[in-house]
Amino acid sequence: MIVAIDGPSGTGKSSTSKAVAAKLGLSYLDTGAQYRAITWWMISNGIDTDDADAIAAASGKPLLISGTDPSDPTITVDGADASGPIRTQEVTSKVSAVSAVPEVRSRITELQRTIAADAPGGIVVEGRDIGTTVLPDADLKVFLTASPEARAARRSGELKGADVKATQEALVKRDAADSSRKTSPLAKADDAVEVDTTELTLQQVIECVVTLVEEKRAAK
Ligand code: DC
Repeated sequence: MIVAIDGPSGTGKSSTSKAVAAKLGLSYLDTGAQYRAITWWMISNGIDTDDADAIAAASGKPLLISGTDPSDPTITVDGADASGPIRTQEVTSKVSAVSAVPEVRSRITELQRTIAADAPGGIVVEGRDIGTTVLPDADLKVFLTASPEARAARRSGELKGADVKATQEALVKRDAADSSRKTSPLAKADDAVEVDTTELTLQQVIECVVTLVEEKRAAK
């Protein structure tokens, strides 16, 4: 059972994907964490994140390893725990530029396909291009949306008191960059089920996706 969950930031992708995977005994992969990890490596190694050629040339160097247990997802870069550093403001502001480089995308896409193929019993993979590009044959594709206001409110809650207006501006800017890049932009697959989470609690979104997976399982 391969489940692809895509959508912009702040729609509840990570919380939903982790909970659905845990509930159904599936593995879990946060593909945003992989793009963040390679961005962190570029910054740590002095590579100019506005220089696409330099990023492309270095894209094969870092060794990224993702742990796919939904109750304890991990990410290491060259053996170092990257889970803290990948959530900094610096990485967040640079990840769209790094993830737009085609060489970065092809390397990480290949890694994602290998992880999904090796997951015993199946996997929930969350990202921006999973249903369209990485796993176009997924058993279930879900595209989560929410109003920019709801997404910013959730994100600033997670960031403990961050300014909602500034958070909304940063989020809308990052979504615009992720949606307009040439290689596998943020997009809903034609056969994805769209779920607008604006008026839903996290619990309701989880139940909705669990039901969708169970329906697919029953039909298999
Ligand atoms: O989900 P997130 O906010 O951690 O993702 C960080 C960035 O990674 C996002 O702004 C765009 C990029 N990304 C991507 O290009 N493709 C994916 N499948 C997942 C994330």
